[in-house]
Amino acid sequence: MSLRTTAADYVTDVSPGSGALPARTRYAVSDAMSRSLNGRWRFRLSPAADTEDESFAAPGFDAGEWAEIEVPGHWVLQGHGTPIYTNHLYPFPVDPPHVPTENPTGDHLHVFDLPSGWPEDGGAVLRFDGVESCARVWLNGTDIGEFKGSRLPHEFAVGHLLRPRGNVLAVRVHQWSAGSYLEDQDQWWLPGIFRDVTLLHRPPGCVADFFVHAAYDHLTGKGTLRVDSDVDGRVSVPALDIDVATGEPVTVPVTPWTAETPRLYDGVLATEGERVPLRIGFRTVTLADGLIKVNGRPILFKGVNRHEWHPERGRALDPDTMRADVLLMKRHNINAVRTSHYPPHPAFLDLCDEYGLWVIDECDLETHGFTEQNWRDNPVDDDRWTPALLDRAARMVERDKNHPSVVLWSLGNEAGTGRGLTAMAEWIHGRDPSRLVHYEGDANCRDTDVHSRMYAYHEEVERIGLGLDGGPQRRRELPFIQCEYAHAMGNGPGGLSEYQELFESHERLQGGFVWEWIDHGIKDERFGYAYGGDFGEELHDANFVCDGLLFPDRTPSPGLVEYAKVIEPVRIAGDPADGTVRVTNRHDFADLSALAFEWAYQADGETLATGTLPVPPSLSPGESAEVELPEPPGAVPAGAETHWIVRALLARDTAWAPRGHVVAWGQLRAGTRPVPAPVHPTTAPVRGPGTLTLGPAAFDARTGAPTSIGGVEVRDLRLDVWRAPTDNDNGAGWQREPRHGLLWRTLGLHRMHHRLDAVEVGADALTVRTRVAPAASDLGLRTVYRWTSDGTRLRLTVAVTPEGDWRLPLPRLGVRLGLPGPAHRVTWYGGGPGEAYPDTRAAALLARWESTVDALQTPYVRPQENGARADVRWAEIGGLRIEGDPAFCLTARRWTTEQLDAAAHLTDLVPGDTVWVNLDHAQMGIGTQSCGPGPLPAHHLHAEPAEFSFVFTQSTASVKSVRSTT
Ligand code: GAL
Repeated sequence: MSLRTTAADYVTDVSPGSGALPARTRYAVSDAMSRSLNGRWRFRLSPAADTEDESFAAPGFDAGEWAEIEVPGHWVLQGHGTPIYTNHLYPFPVDPPHVPTENPTGDHLHVFDLPSGWPEDGGAVLRFDGVESCARVWLNGTDIGEFKGSRLPHEFAVGHLLRPRGNVLAVRVHQWSAGSYLEDQDQWWLPGIFRDVTLLHRPPGCVADFFVHAAYDHLTGKGTLRVDSDVDGRVSVPALDIDVATGEPVTVPVTPWTAETPRLYDGVLATEGERVPLRIGFRTVTLADGLIKVNGRPILFKGVNRHEWHPERGRALDPDTMRADVLLMKRHNINAVRTSHYPPHPAFLDLCDEYGLWVIDECDLETHGFTEQNWRDNPVDDDRWTPALLDRAARMVERDKNHPSVVLWSLGNEAGTGRGLTAMAEWIHGRDPSRLVHYEGDANCRDTDVHSRMYAYHEEVERIGLGLDGGPQRRRELPFIQCEYAHAMGNGPGGLSEYQELFESHERLQGGFVWEWIDHGIKDERFGYAYGGDFGEELHDANFVCDGLLFPDRTPSPGLVEYAKVIEPVRIAGDPADGTVRVTNRHDFADLSALAFEWAYQADGETLATGTLPVPPSLSPGESAEVELPEPPGAVPAGAETHWIVRALLARDTAWAPRGHVVAWGQLRAGTRPVPAPVHPTTAPVRGPGTLTLGPAAFDARTGAPTSIGGVEVRDLRLDVWRAPTDNDNGAGWQREPRHGLLWRTLGLHRMHHRLDAVEVGADALTVRTRVAPAASDLGLRTVYRWTSDGTRLRLTVAVTPEGDWRLPLPRLGVRLGLPGPAHRVTWYGGGPGEAYPDTRAAALLARWESTVDALQTPYVRPQENGARADVRWAEIGGLRIEGDPAFCLTARRWTTEQLDAAAHLTDLVPGDTVWVNLDHAQMGIGTQSCGPGPLPAHHLHAEPAEFSFVFTQSTASVKSVRSTT
């Protein structure tokens, strides 16, 4: 009896597949005909891959009963099955190359006609730009091959099979395959034909593959162009008067391409059968003097890691979404993208060329789950898998080699180490010596050209910057980047400014890529946005998939606003006491001629005067100019706090933002900060039946707690140290350092007891003595509230003295109170417009701001502490005016901290009828410990004696002028 092989053996075959054409360059259009096969396809889902029934692929099969599905798309996002999220765990038993019997398999069918005028001569190619994870393809009943490599293109020669009408394209897609072992990226597992399917006519004499070599010599200012093509032809670039044969180099003066100045030249490659448009960017990438240089100059990456994501369509991105990403990046001063962790839709790279972004193009490779078995059986160290790895490398490099934006190739992510990776690096270096090779997992930089780390702490980054790191000599001679840092999960990341300072002070540090661009929340009416576990997955990593600078709907999070400020390409600083401001050009290539500068003079947050500032447009990268400020305007109210604000704006419309878009700004203190007007305690507390009154306030005589202030009802005012832990407070399970969120909860800071020790009615003050402490602990905070009044103003001074051996910082320190009456509008003079915490406050501009309680909330996909406005001098809410002495941090929400803490999704937050206001003397920093360092020591809120005051009055003046944008 012979052993029967099943039709599905190709699924677990480690080879890359069979039948596909060799990898080649991918270009959007030529004058050859093509037809998109995107659209509605027939679809049937089977629970297993072992079906031998291929009858659906035969012409004449009746799929009338089948469902319909959108291609490109993932079937699990279209009502068939459900998505699974794991960070690094394989959601199936690890036994490579085997996959489970339960292997959801989607049969896709599409019947199409050739467009009229489809030429009869020549051939045709059927192209799949992306299918997860393994597909077998039939055209008109003929099996044309099968492939793996989800985010890579595969093409088949199909000319001989086509007929004018009624072509039947059948594609069987398996969710799991041997390829899944190579695609263990931290993201949703989303099977389907998720990128375009296209039929391309290939005329006789058409272009097969071509390689545009466009170098720039910064010493001569000349570019050298040579287009190698498999098929001879001519290359013309009208703007440069170039008309040469393929393979022939030509050197002419050019404007080079950089991410800051993305000059592209339109050209044409014409062969006998086809004309292919070229977009040529002249630039040269080198590793010189231990630095990554482009056109002779070191560059600084201000990057992000970008996964492809859309909250409804998953990784099936439409052109508008891709463009939106690029525009958002450019508008937030981002200059680089690592295409984590696979080559993106090719149209994205066209946009990077056009708008200007440095790209690290990363191969579709991650085997992270093997870490669970100490990397045993890792495919990258097993020669049987090497052909698949080389196939992936080739499909990436060949597809993307003609993009000037791509400056580094990355072998993949978190795949351990092994011979297969070395083979990939060798092949890439040989095929394209014009770019550098990156792979973070190559700790010794044996195969790679840059020392790359992820989530290295500030301290270590500094040591590397200073050249004090150990390790092999080769690595010590290489430039350093953080391919991932500043984990943007939930509230944060904190510590960006300090990283940027390091990057800017040490030449060897060539910047980094924030993890990551967008939250991968899935739109879901049950939850708002779903994350891991919401689909009943057996294994999952919860909201670790929501760690982006954008919310799932692409609204910028405060983290992105902060990042934009921290990496702004113009630094505006100095001490205006000497009448000047220092403007530094922090571009790598551009002067300042694209920018216009404006100043504003502010008193107590109100703008008194504005004007333009003459900053030399020719200021070169790295240079600074001391620019004279005008005379401060007269008529500044006595005692006002004054500031200069200088803004750098786009002087003209650009492709990515209109004229007037603010690229950079600086706020410089002009005068000293005045102290709030004192409250002279002239009024004595008066006892009534069950109440005490003091100036404008009434108190409960038993507890000493205020019940109304200036006629505004107030409840439950008391010390508060708890915040709903952020993802960064909770930290990742593998962190070595203490994870404060968990320690706080263990200690019981969320369940403090407030013991009342005394209510003392004095001649000029009401004093309430308490001790605030968690059960089962001897730690406590002795807290004294002292109330005084001058008849109209009410001052509260809170004195806190820690008792016991406090070894951990506090989440927050301040008072919270409830406003049961209507409170909707909030106005304040302080940092804004967005939230700011001790280590996420670079983008907070001191001004007068107006918002609503609802708009103050930051909608982190998993609810957590959010929305604090920092450095608040005064705020008005619900009829109360609150002045801080010193400035305070303000939050206001329609739910309690306890409710916020208990919520798992935004839909769990139901507004109550009380607005809860926190007036914090201080908050703990945020850090980025959800993957990386916690808050730096300078941003810890130590439990130590503290005293702070607030002055309450009835709110009177409405805010005269309110800025709503920076
Ligand atoms: C890295 C990994 C990313 C992501 C990140 C945490 O180790 O490369 O893919 O998992 O951690 O969000």
